[in-house]
Amino acid sequence: MSFKASFVSSRTRQRFGLTARQVNVVLEVLFVVLIVTGLGSWLLALDKAWIAATIHAIAGFTLVLVVPLKVRGSVRTGFKRGRMTRWVSTLFGLMLLSGVVLGWLHTTALWWGIGYWAAMWTHLLFGFVGIPFFLWHAASRPSKPKLVDLDRRAMLSAVGLASAGAAIYGTQEVVLAAAGRKRAGTGSHEIASFEPDKMPRMQWINDTAPRVDLDTWDLRIEGESVDLAALAARTEPLVAWLDCTDGWRSQQRWDVVSLESVLSDSPGRSVKVTSSTGYSRLFARSDANDVFLCFGYDGDPLRRGHGAPVRVVAPNRRGPWWIKWVVDIELTDRRAWLQLPLPAS
Ligand code: HEM
Repeated sequence: MSFKASFVSSRTRQRFGLTARQVNVVLEVLFVVLIVTGLGSWLLALDKAWIAATIHAIAGFTLVLVVPLKVRGSVRTGFKRGRMTRWVSTLFGLMLLSGVVLGWLHTTALWWGIGYWAAMWTHLLFGFVGIPFFLWHAASRPSKPKLVDLDRRAMLSAVGLASAGAAIYGTQEVVLAAAGRKRAGTGSHEIASFEPDKMPRMQWINDTAPRVDLDTWDLRIEGESVDLAALAARTEPLVAWLDCTDGWRSQQRWDVVSLESVLSDSPGRSVKVTSSTGYSRLFARSDANDVFLCFGYDGDPLRRGHGAPVRVVAPNRRGPWWIKWVVDIELTDRRAWLQLPLPAS
């Protein structure tokens, strides 16, 4: 086919001002935005996470609007070509669409999922499993995106689609507000506030709740065993939200002492807090006044599943920072920002 003929045929395949190749570019950008903003809604402080969650939702709805353009463009061509790998691409597409539906069901609180397969967790699973599929799909495409794809008309179409996505998101929010369905900026729904006995018990990935013997529990601070009862007697109440990456949040009146108040004047850029499960996180020493050790809620001792006998309370940070079953606290010169943003196990 001559250059002119191929140019004309790609133009005649335009949908909504976009060629098949341009539709692919839009989808690729949306996928990356969804992963980055999804993670952003976990990693940002609770009072900033709404920015990532809002962009995430708009990108999700825009993706749905682009799907028909994709189906009428390269999906149709791909099925005519008949390569076996079209089924892998189909699986990837279905996974993404299921992810959208599950994210939406969680957001609207219409369906929570079944047992371990919470709608939000399955949504996340499809998102993360989608990454290798996405890389393979982008690398194996016969017709690669080119710079000429970024023309003015394509830009206007992309802005039009994103505006339509934003309008759908805005409408959803108005309807949810009218129906009284409130959720946090992170997208989490409120559960069992000030009812600690009903608060869920979650662990990070492969952690399991350890057996807890309160009489023999050994908490070491800077290498020295401390008297737990004496520390627990010093607590003061602090009202804070625990916002879990599983999509729920709960406000409690926690009984806490600040991390700074249990540390010596020894030098150290960070405070490393370790759980009996081996799970640990570094907190910048300068934040140690705003991170707390917690022994209970409103005079009630912590329950085993909630980290008894002592856990971290880290207001304005997501659940993975709220380390449970603390056994060791030490000062270190490692910089807190050099750790993985979320633990890998
Ligand atoms: C490419 C894969 C993904 C797609 C297509 C997708 C799409 C969506 C959609 C359509 C919603 C519903 C938004 C609404 O109705 O307002 C949603 C919600 C959500 N997603 Fe994703 N998502 C993906 C990956 C992720 C990842 C990897 C994370 C986290 C690491 C994540 C976290 C969230 C959260 C927290 C919500 C709730 C937001 C809220 O209620 O405002 N998503 N997602």
